[in-house]
Amino acid sequence: MKRIIFSLLVVLTGINVAVAGDAEAGKNKVALCAGCHGANGISPSDAYPNLAGQHADYIVKQLKAFKNGTDRSDAVMAPMAAGLSEEDMADIGAYYNSLPSTPVTADAGGDAGTSAAAPVAVAKYEPSAIAGKSLYELGDASRSIGACIGCHGKDGNSEVLIYPNLAKQHPEYIEKQLHNFKANENRTNYAMNEFAKNLTDEEIQDLGAYFADTSAVANVKAKKVIAVAITEDVIAGKAKAAACAACHGDAGNATVAMYPKLAGQGAEYIVKQLKEFKDGTRKDPVMSGMAAPLSEQDMVELGAYFAAQKATAGNGKGSEIGRKIYFGGKTNHILNQSVTACVACHGATGKGMAKAEFPALANQSVEYITSQLKKFRSGERVNDRSKMMQNIAVALSDEDINEVAQFISSLK
Ligand code: HEC
Ligand code: HEC
Ligand code: HEC
Ligand code: HEC
Repeated sequence: MKRIIFSLLVVLTGINVAVAGDAEAGKNKVALCAGCHGANGISPSDAYPNLAGQHADYIVKQLKAFKNGTDRSDAVMAPMAAGLSEEDMADIGAYYNSLPSTPVTADAGGDAGTSAAAPVAVAKYEPSAIAGKSLYELGDASRSIGACIGCHGKDGNSEVLIYPNLAKQHPEYIEKQLHNFKANENRTNYAMNEFAKNLTDEEIQDLGAYFADTSAVANVKAKKVIAVAITEDVIAGKAKAAACAACHGDAGNATVAMYPKLAGQGAEYIVKQLKEFKDGTRKDPVMSGMAAPLSEQDMVELGAYFAAQKATAGNGKGSEIGRKIYFGGKTNHILNQSVTACVACHGATGKGMAKAEFPALANQSVEYITSQLKKFRSGERVNDRSKMMQNIAVALSDEDINEVAQFISSLK
């Protein structure tokens, strides 16, 4: 969270010097808006979002999106935003932000009366505010759904200015937007599209129910959330990764065996490699050219993006000899040198140790693993700290290398 806020501060104070809004001036510019969003920013209808108390930066961002039609398309709002200048947007944002938000009325979203009167009893899903709260606070790591609370804050009060408050928003509107993100049609936002894609319709209703009843205090048990957080760095990195796709594949899953996969690789390791391609510590004519124009921040974002992607399986057939070397190492009697077991640094499942900059190896192709071991052996690649890999590779024969590569690339 600190990281997200920090990078946002950089963005907000650095590149995007926002026009400071004037709430008083904004008040005179919203006559048209009141028809739908209410005279006090509280909309009388479930179809229109409340704007009172919403972050000004978020409002400005949305108005720009409606105007440009790139990230958000809505037939009603596009023409509303079309005539607004940046200054108008800033003033309007400041004005709505200054208005007090009031709680959703107790019966908001409640349709018990009408459904009871419905003549045909179709088995209807009964949304659960408790389930919604649980999903909101914990997410679901197994389906890569980030915890909403991480960005939208406790009970929907976000601390980051371009993340919308969800508290006191119409539940119907929240559900509609989640469907929009899920369909990835009317609304584009990398993080939200990723999470909403995996939400079921029932879960969307649960989330709506939670916001209809924020007093639903569930006994949500603290559970470890291990989904890779989609931070601002990941989002920024995605855009920059387009330049890498020709060789490293879609989302870092290279399909040509000689190119390494970057999907699921440790972010720190990726940054280290990019720095070293740039300064010449690791030599490769193609990659030094690719890394040359990258700033350190670019590298961090690219690392974060690739680390958050899921790698496809490697092409190894498996090998018993390879397995022995991987888990037990070996002794080269001719050189009188012993090879440390690979498992010590690359882990039991070949996932590496990200924080230590020990790379993940599982999922890489046999060809790439082989090429790197041979480069360490011949001294063509010398960027390993304390010659950790060079000392190992010198003691491996061509056959050893082939067997261990077949084994590593078959690891799941
Ligand atoms: C005719 C009704 C109507 C009018 C008039 C209108 N809006 Fe909207 N507004 C909508 C609807 C509908 C949406 C939701 C669009 C969607 O589903 O994405 C919306 C969404 C928004 C949002 C995004 C809110 C969020 O939480 O993401 C902002 C900001 C906004 N309107 C500002 C304005 C401003 C400023 C004006 C006046 C210049 C205005 N609107 C006039 C109907 C209206
Ligand atoms: C990584 C941060 C992040 C996480 C985690 C996250 N969101 Fe969002 N969410 C955003 C951002 C950013 C936007 C605004 C997108 C835009 O600018 O259009 C947004 C917009 C929304 C909106 C539209 C609000 C409006 O006023 O139009 C809803 C609803 C929403 N998120 C619900 C959720 C739910 C439910 C979850 C958990 C399943 C979740 N979000 C998790 C960042 C996040
Ligand atoms: C024209 C093909 C090509 C393009 C485009 C390309 N790369 Fe590479 N990349 C390679 C090759 C080949 C290697 C392996 C070099 C070696 O054998 O040492 C590599 C290696 C890497 C490695 C080291 C991987 C590891 O497991 O050690 C990283 C990190 C990397 N590239 C990142 C990037 C990024 C980021 C981009 C986009 C900005 C990019 N590459 C664009 C060909 C390419
Ligand atoms: C003492 C720790 C250590 C041991 C033991 C070890 N490695 Fe490594 N390995 C590393 C480090 C650190 C790197 C990354 C070097 C760098 O920063 O470029 C690496 C890199 C590699 C790479 C290149 C990965 C890539 O994406 O380019 C391969 C392949 C590899 N090791 C295979 C092996 C095999 C096979 C064994 C066992 C025979 C082994 N390693 C044992 C630490 C170790």
